[in-house]
This record gives sequence, structure tokens and C-alpha cells, in this order.
Amino acid sequence: MSDDYTTTQTGTPVASDAHSLTAGRDGVTALHDRYLVEKLAQFNRERIPERIVHAKGGGAFGEFVVTGDVSAYTKAAVFQPGTSTRTLQRFSSVAGEQGSPDTWRDVRGFSVKFYTTEGNYDIVGNNTPVFFIRDGIKFPDFIHSQKRLPGSGLRDADMQWDFWTLSPESAHQVTYLMGDRGLPRSWRTMPGYGSHTYQWINAAGERFWVKYHFHSLQGNEEITGVEAEQLAGADADYYRRDLYEAIQRGDYPAWRVSVQVMPYEDAKTYRFNPFDLTKVWPHSDYPLIEVGIHTLNENPQNFFAEIEQAAFSPANTVPGIDISPDKMLMARVFSYPDAQRYRVGTNYNELPVNRPVAPVNNYSQDGAARHGFKPADAPVYAPNSFGGPSAQPERAGEGSWESDGALVRSAATLHAEDDDFGQAGTLYREVFDDAAKARFLDTIAGAVGGVTREAIRERAIQYWTNVDASLGRALRDRLESGFETPDEAAEYVGVAE
Ligand code: HEM
Repeated sequence: MSDDYTTTQTGTPVASDAHSLTAGRDGVTALHDRYLVEKLAQFNRERIPERIVHAKGGGAFGEFVVTGDVSAYTKAAVFQPGTSTRTLQRFSSVAGEQGSPDTWRDVRGFSVKFYTTEGNYDIVGNNTPVFFIRDGIKFPDFIHSQKRLPGSGLRDADMQWDFWTLSPESAHQVTYLMGDRGLPRSWRTMPGYGSHTYQWINAAGERFWVKYHFHSLQGNEEITGVEAEQLAGADADYYRRDLYEAIQRGDYPAWRVSVQVMPYEDAKTYRFNPFDLTKVWPHSDYPLIEVGIHTLNENPQNFFAEIEQAAFSPANTVPGIDISPDKMLMARVFSYPDAQRYRVGTNYNELPVNRPVAPVNNYSQDGAARHGFKPADAPVYAPNSFGGPSAQPERAGEGSWESDGALVRSAATLHAEDDDFGQAGTLYREVFDDAAKARFLDTIAGAVGGVTREAIRERAIQYWTNVDASLGRALRDRLESGFETPDEAAEYVGVAE
């Protein structure tokens, strides 16, 4: 585009940006003022649908540098010693819409795209190591319960607690959410997790199960409910601004990336189902192994082009890395590319922010807004006799696992310590100190205090009793004596919805 004269989208100089073409000074507007028409029509199409979840966020480009040696566990080029890789990271909140305040209590998204020499690799995680559910078939219901009522358009404590208490596998994640982790001071001062178990494959074809951890080198810092409430009013973009300004002044945030590695065979007999997303693997069972350092050092030039149109997906794996039999993960690898074909467009992977640095060679073609194409004589099908690209299993380095049996819809588990409340209780009793426990009680009392239906409130007390009996008793006492009204309770802990 020329920068000294204005043009239409097709490069023709335009006559005015201030005056429509009319029949006489006060006459009707001419439909053939095609610059006016183009300007209005183009404007009407500036928005694409916001992400169905994680709509509010921000991000930056960075670099991942390998500092450890995990080549015994994976042959992925991105994790080999001496490698550095350009990255894009996006942070987000789950439930709020585009303009929602950053400091509403919520889980925070933590997505990293590695532009590797073997294709894009995305880790699409959160600032918590677990999740609310363990089967993707529940995800739309879960999200509906956290968003808005269809009639009033309001968020609603009754439906949130109704879903959680009827889905007791949520207890571990709700304990994280209602604890300090639910209100980070900034995106820079929070950890990230891949959360799921993934598979790594080494050069010899041996398989391992891994979990990713990102520890903030800025340290973890949180804010109180009252602070969060004030910030929500004072600066809805508090986190987005904090990240942008830090990078502008050269104060680059960084995370140490580590993995827990479980030998392939351990999965069958481990005390928890290692593919259950509501569980962590205690570090005493599988210690952290350092992989590298991830640093964010470049703000986007254009928020829409590079952050809004960015498409992260757990389906984006590379040779030496694969998914696992986690039912959530298997649902996610379908869901993200599907969402992005709708949200951004069929050829979203051709956009600069999503395009890999690795070559793209396949026989897909055409579709809306396709602009890349091959020479006219390139073959358009496989197999062919004309030297087109061919699939190479060795190069793909896919993972695998054994699976046999009839098709079932089963919640059955074979692992000794699988339950819904055990790890939530451990988090509350052994990780939270006394002050954190006190804040936690305030928070859940405020949130449950906002529930209007007696049966749901009673179920919520039982839910926390199952996490920890003394916590349940304290919650009942607090609800019976602590607050005059649900509004007052919610205001006190700053989780009013
Ligand atoms: C975004 C679906 C579970 C983290 C999204 C999007 C969809 C989705 C459709 C929007 C994608 C887009 O438009 O670009 C699902 C489904 C899940 C699930 C169906 C369960 C089966 C999870 C879990 C995590 C997670 C367990 C974390 C461990 C994220 C993050 C984003 C996101 C961080 C934002 C990505 C970005 O920054 O662009 N999810 N999700 N989701 N999800 Fe999930």
C-alpha cells in the first residue's frame, strides 16, 4: 500500500475520506460511491468470532533454548541439546469474553507454539496441572455452566456449583481455582503446565510418558480477592498491559521448562491412572528433569493478525512427540482445528502467525482464501508416479500404545488410588499453609454463599467435606454465621459474578 495517497482495496486512488458522494449538497447518497460502500462493508467484517473459550488474552513472541539433555527420551528436534527455537505464547482466561477483566478469578491459559524445523509444536496448557473433568464429552456442559444464563445473560453461582458438585472429579481443579492460584498477580508471575500426559519417543523407538512444567523465573505472585476486584474495575486489561509494558522496557519474562518422565510400562501399574487429567504425578514419584528456558522477548506488531488469529492446538505435534490415551486430549485434538477452521477460516495455517518454518507438502488444495499453490505440473493426488511427496512413517516418528477390547463408554479404572477427592485433600492439607487455608475458606464461603438453591448449597458443603472434613465443618459454620447475605459474602472475597 502506498503511504502518501489513500486507495481502495484494489489500489485505486480515492477522492475523499470525509465526504460521501451525494446528489447535490443535501441529496441522497449514491450507491455507486464504491469507496464508501467498501469502507462500511469492510468495517462490518473486522471481527471474527471470539474463541469459544479463552477469549480474553494476550501474548508475545519468544525463544526456547534447550539447556538440559532429554535426548534419551525424545528425538524431537526442538528438545535436542544446543537447539533454540522461535516461539509464540498466548495467555488467557477461560470463561470471560473478549473485554472481560483480566483479574476475574479463573484458570489462566498458557499456550506455547514452537516453530520447529520439523513442523509446529504446540503445548496448550493452563496455570494449573489438572482440569475439571476427565472426559471431553463433558466439556460443552462444563463451559455452559461457567458462562452465562440464556435468559438473563448473567453468570450464575447456582449453575457453576451445580455442575461442579454433580461432577466430583472437578474437586482438585476447583481447589486450585479457589486457592491463590486462581488470582495470579500477572501472567509473568504464574507457572504453566501441559497438564495432560503426552508421549515421547526416542531415536531407538522407545516410548515414555511425560508431563510438562513451566516455572516462572520471576517467581510466583498472587493478588487478593479484594485487589482483584479493584483492578477489575480500574484496569480490565491489567495482565495484557503488564506483559506488553515489561517486554517494551526489555524486562523479558522467562520460564524454566521441565518434564516428569514415566517409563512406558509404569503406566499400567501406577497408583493413579496416569492419563487422568484430574490427577498430578507427585514429584517424589517422578522428579522434574530440566529441558530448557523459554523467554518472551518480542511484542506482536499487530494484535489481531498475530494474537487473535493465532491458532494453537494440541493436534500440532512433531516427530518424537505424540498424545496419550487421555480421553480429554483425544477430544481436544479434534476440537481445536475444527474451531479454527470456523473461527479464522479453512486456510488458517497459511497465515504468517500460524505458518510453519518447516516446508508444507501435501495434496490438500483450494478452499476459501487459499493463496499458496504449487507449480501447474505438480501432481495433485497420492500415490502418484511423478515424484510428489510421499508419507514416511520413519520420519513421522509417531507414538503408539496397546489397545484392545470391545467399544465401551466406561468410567472404570484399574488403578489403586483413583478417586475424586484424594489429591484435592492433599493439596488443601499439605500444600496450602495456614494463611492460604484461611483465604481459601473465605473464597469458597463467598462463592458458595452466592448459591441461592438450598440443595445445591448443601451439596457444595458435602463436596468440600469430601475434600477435607474439617474444611467442610468450617464452611458450614461460616455460611451459617459469617455473612448476612450472599451478596455480602461474594463482595467480601471478590468473586461476585
Ligand atoms: C482454547 C476446546 C480442554 C486450554 C480452546 C478452544 C477450544 C477448546 C475449541 C478455542 C480454540 C480456538 O478457537 O483457537 C477444548 C475442549 C477441551 C478443552 C473440547 C476438552 C475436551 C482444555 C484443557 C486445557 C485447555 C484441559 C488446558 C490444559 C486451552 C487454552 C486455550 C483453549 C490455553 C486458548 C488457546 C489460545 O491461547 O489460543 N479450547 N478445550 N483446554 N483451551 Fe481448550
